[in-house]
This record gives sequence, structure tokens and C-alpha cells, in this order.
Amino acid sequence: MQAKDILQKLRRFDAYPKTLEDFRVKTFGGAAVTVISGILMVILFVSELNYYLTTEVHADLFVDTSRGQKLRINMDVTFPRVSCAFLSIDAMDVTGETQIDVDHNIYKERLDLQGNPMEDPEKEVIGDKSEDIIESLKLTLNTSRCESCYGAETYNGQCCNTCEEVREAYRKKGWAFITPAEIEQCKREGFTEKLEKQQNEGCHLYGYLEVNKVAGNFHIAPGKSFQQHHVHVHDLQAFSGTKFNMTHSIKHFSFGQDYPGLQNPLDHLEVVAHKDQMMFQYFVKIVPTTYLNLDEKVLYTNQYSITTNSKVVSATSGDQGLPGMFMMYELSPMMVKYTEQKRSFFHFLTGVCAIIGGVFTVAGLVDAFIFHSAKMIQKKIDLGKAS
Ligand SMILES: *[C@@H]1O[C@H](CO)[C@@H](O)[C@H](O)[C@H]1NC(C)=O
Repeated sequence: MQAKDILQKLRRFDAYPKTLEDFRVKTFGGAAVTVISGILMVILFVSELNYYLTTEVHADLFVDTSRGQKLRINMDVTFPRVSCAFLSIDAMDVTGETQIDVDHNIYKERLDLQGNPMEDPEKEVIGDKSEDIIESLKLTLNTSRCESCYGAETYNGQCCNTCEEVREAYRKKGWAFITPAEIEQCKREGFTEKLEKQQNEGCHLYGYLEVNKVAGNFHIAPGKSFQQHHVHVHDLQAFSGTKFNMTHSIKHFSFGQDYPGLQNPLDHLEVVAHKDQMMFQYFVKIVPTTYLNLDEKVLYTNQYSITTNSKVVSATSGDQGLPGMFMMYELSPMMVKYTEQKRSFFHFLTGVCAIIGGVFTVAGLVDAFIFHSAKMIQKKIDLGKAS
């Protein structure tokens, strides 16, 4: 008796009172609405499920407090009109240190004018590369000899025993070094042949540099580079007759490893030099980035933004600079941290309920509207017939 009473009371809380089957009518309009709303529900559910299965990437911004990391510069650049013999790569940073702590792994590949590789790539030595050749030659020559500097001596009795020394003496005098073919030392070292042989070639440079994580710059430019009174200079006089077409294409350029969704603004960039002797400057702002994926693996890498500038440099136009590709990079003090996250399951559940409930309610309204309008129209027709 008691239990029955309680049940009776509980019934009052039923928010879903049922009507008796007998009073229900099934209409054609109702069926159509049901089918359409069913399809709609399925479509919405699938899209919600799709959304749930993607990972959410959350971005945070804070001051970069990491220390002692190296910056890795990856590159893959092709100069279709400048030969590898001319190009040299130099890197330096704000500490004034050149090529110090630079762990490099850059390869040069000679290309013919059609862009096909000519031989196996050789590993590039940053800085002066003539040393080895000279070293090997020294062994066969009399060490106490004293060869002429061809009039470029700065003091009496100066000796120029290598092509490099003659070139250096010329440079100190400010003379153009345009006749290496007539200089014994250079002939011996095959200086001219080496340059001439590679006159009509292109060069493909690829690999990476590892530098200190401070602002700095690096460049790929024709000419032998050296330090003079702490200033970095390129000796271009040997090539004073040569016009450099610095057209280049950048296949890849990045700082650090890739992560999903990373965009490198320099990738697949084709730059055509419309004039000879052009200088291309790239001002790069590096944004340190950490990427934390779902497996809690942390990736320290960088994004960057870029602005470019190009100009024609020549002694006659009075413009300072050298032809070549120059990268000036700076580090942002802010770090971006991306965290991959799974989407909330309860959020998904809420979404699904909203879809089902919402579509059901709206369909009910539409159905009622159709039903009542149909009834009204029927009534009007009947009235018309009666009169
Ligand atoms: C440099 O070479 C490119 C093709 O590699 C060409 O389109 C461009 O006109 C050349 N520039 C000059 C100044 O010759």
C-alpha cells in the first residue's frame, strides 16, 4: 500500500507525459520531417565526431628563459649562375667571433647551366680553402726561396711564395688582381684554370650550420673572405672582370627541426636577379618555439618572419656592399609554446546531446506547423465546397 502511494507521487514528476496510442495520427508530412531531421542529425554527428578526433593545439606566449642552446640553420640553396669555386660561406655573430663554435656541415654540388649535378658534392670548408693546396705544394718547393711580388712589395726584400701572397700584396697596394695568368705562383697552383674551368657553372649548397643562439649573420657571397683589423672583408679583386648573376632559389630554409604546421616563409622561393652584381639582404626575426606533442615529447625549434631588400652594388654606383645573399638574424625574447591536447570527451557528449535535442525540437515545431496549416487549408476547402 505504502509503496504504491510513493509511486503515485513520483509519477507527478514525469516531465514526459504520454498520450494514448489511439489518439495519435501518423501523417505523411510527419514522416518526411522525421527522415530529413534524421539525415541532418547523422551529418551533424559525423562532423562533431570529426572535430572531436582532431587534436587541439594550444599556444602560450612567455619570455624565453632557456639557456645555452645552439641555433641550427638548415639550408638548401641553388645559385644557377655562380660556380662553387667563387662562392664562400661565412658566419659570424654579435660577439664578433667569426666561424668560432660553428659546427658546419655544408655541401657544395657543382651544377651545369641546365642545373644537373656534375660530380659528387664536396664538403665546404668555411673560410679560407686555399690552405690545403698551398700546404701540399710547399713540400715540393725549396722552403728558403724568395719569389717576386711583381712590384707590389711594401718593403725591400719581401717575398711572395704563393699565389695567395701575391694576391695579398696586391690587395695591400690596392691593385686589381686581374692578371693571375701571368703570375708564376698562380700558374703553378692552377688558380686561373680552376676559376676558368668553373666559369659557366651553377652551385647547389645544402646542409646545416650550428651557431651560438645570439643575433648574427651569415652570407653566401663570391670572393675569399678574411679578417682585417677585426673587419670582415671579401676580396673580390681577383674576379673584378666577372659579373655575378646572383639569381638564386631557396628550396628550404629553417632554424631547427620541423613540427606539424610549421611554415617557413623562405621555402620554395625563387629570386631572379634582373641586373648583375646584386646584393640580396634577408632580415630574419627568429621566434623560439617549443612544441609539446601528445606523447609529452618536447621539441625545441624556431619559427621566423622575414623582410627582404635587394640592391645593385658596384664601385661606380658608390653603393656599399657585395653581391651575394646576406642573412641577418635576430632572436625574439618571447617564446611560443604549442601544446597538443586531446579534445574533451564531455564536451563532445554535450555537443551530441545538443544536436539530437535541438534537431528533434525544431523538427517537432516544423511538423506541428505543417500539420496545422494542412488542417486549416482542408477546413477552408471544405467550407468552400459547402457554400
Ligand atoms: C640571371 O640569370 C637568370 C636565369 O638563371 C636570368 O633570368 C636573368 O635574366 C639573369 N640576369 C642577368 C642580369 O643576366
